[in-house]
Amino acid sequence: MSTDAPVADATDRLVIAIDGPSGSGKSSTSRGVAARLGLRYLDTGAMYRAVTWWMLDHGVDVSDAAAVAAHAEEPVVESGTDPLAPTISVDGVDVSVEIRGEAVNGAVSPVSAVPEVRARMLELQRAAAAEGGIVVEGRDIGSVVLPDAPVKVYLTADPEARAARRALEEGGSDVAATQASLLQRDAIDSTRATSPLVMADGAAHLDTTAHTLDEVIDQVVALARSVAAGEGP
Ligand code: DC
Repeated sequence: MSTDAPVADATDRLVIAIDGPSGSGKSSTSRGVAARLGLRYLDTGAMYRAVTWWMLDHGVDVSDAAAVAAHAEEPVVESGTDPLAPTISVDGVDVSVEIRGEAVNGAVSPVSAVPEVRARMLELQRAAAAEGGIVVEGRDIGSVVLPDAPVKVYLTADPEARAARRALEEGGSDVAATQASLLQRDAIDSTRATSPLVMADGAAHLDTTAHTLDEVIDQVVALARSVAAGEGP
């Protein structure tokens, strides 16, 4: 049997938390791991982006935390969890493309720093993970959302490598500008009062700078299989 085939064992019910800054390879790694292990996939960054898009679309001043908090209960965010075709909608509108644009890039960190927004997303994220069998990626998954996840991974990479990857994903945008915007988001995400980006207790730290995507996926899959087999991390 190929080692790539989804396996019908404890791996099926695993919860894998993958955290790290933008461009660390989180999304590609998380999707790849979920596809290899036959698990669902939840992109929590896309959820914060969808809320941010909604705030901008409704004319909410995103620099005013009280205004954002006042509307935090309103957007209805739904995530499709197929790792090969993840979807994200808000109030029934597919916003997969819109949430990757400059307007959302520039506003998502302040919106996601608002505690009322985080509380709402936390509830949705825990509900999605409740039945197990899922890879959840974000900033605070192993530390706050799913602290009991049996597999926790913290991905990092040098800022230059992260910016180069993000610029490529964004269709060849300017690497220096991408790096500046990414470092600015890192600073806000790491220093906010509620659930800042930190490495969770018990997380395996993987620096992806010098590794291909397949190598990183292999490492996480091996870790997940050893945990599912009861061998521990
Ligand atoms: O992973 P991403 O770049 O799509 O995330 C967008 C923003 O969402 C990021 O700047 C911080 C925020 N975020 C968060 O605060 N908590 C998460 N679990 C995921 C993302």
